[in-house]
Amino acid sequence: MFRVLLVVCAVLLARDAGAQVPTGDVARGERLFKELQCASCHGSTKAGGTAAPGLLKRDDPAYTPNALASAMWSHAAGMWQAMEKAKVQRPQMTPAHAADLFAFFAGAPRVDKPGNPAQGGKVYQAKHCASCHDEPYLGAPNLAAQAGTFSSFSMVSSLWQHGGGMLSRMVAKNTEWQKFTPEEMSHLIAYLNTKRP
Ligand code: HEC
Ligand code: HEC
Repeated sequence: MFRVLLVVCAVLLARDAGAQVPTGDVARGERLFKELQCASCHGSTKAGGTAAPGLLKRDDPAYTPNALASAMWSHAAGMWQAMEKAKVQRPQMTPAHAADLFAFFAGAPRVDKPGNPAQGGKVYQAKHCASCHDEPYLGAPNLAAQAGTFSSFSMVSSLWQHGGGMLSRMVAKNTEWQKFTPEEMSHLIAYLNTKRP
């Protein structure tokens, strides 16, 4: 009985600590960067390509997974347009892919300080997430059902899988695409991981 309780506690603690975050791998990230055609616009050097900014940020200690996630969310609308123009198909990106790409950009895996759920709740309201995701009749998925699974890398993956659908709903609702700082992204993730239905 006691052992069962211990296991239950361990599972609950793991859930509260956030998602199972994949560990990135620099070499895999470098391969993906070419295979997913990121290099065709972003170039393979620190300076970047002619069509898009450079992504190799090895010597910047402030460059964390949430810096990547927030930059991608902030620039997604512009990037989707560039991809449509260049007729590059948006690739499928799993959280593991995102972790590998991050490791390649940063030169090594790195972690963020955990965010604050209460502040994340404010971000969730201020960036209009609630206006769709907490109104079930609008057809956006209920994010509370995925509490405990959110991480910087799941946010990157969701953006690539669902960003197109989200963007077209936002245009339809006349909601502007939002920009994020890395801190806002940390708080938002902490909030989503503790979100109750
Ligand atoms: C067709 C060209 C194109 C392709 C392909 C492309 N991007 Fe981009 N990307 C852009 C452009 C253009 C921007 C800047 C958009 C803006 O600021 O409005 C951008 C912005 C970004 C940013 C934010 C940059 C910043 O300021 O820090 C990240 C991160 C990023 N892209 C990652 C990727 C990854 C990873 C891939 C491959 C899976 C990829 N991109 C593929 C054109 C592209
Ligand atoms: C205009 C409505 C709208 C707004 C605003 C909006 N979303 Fe979404 N979101 C959607 C829809 C619709 C989908 C499903 C899109 C699809 O699959 O094509 C979605 C999908 C998602 C997913 C993927 C869920 C899954 O099942 O994997 C995440 C994560 C997400 N949104 C987070 C956010 C966050 C965080 C914000 C605020 C910054 C936000 N959304 C703002 C409509 C919205």
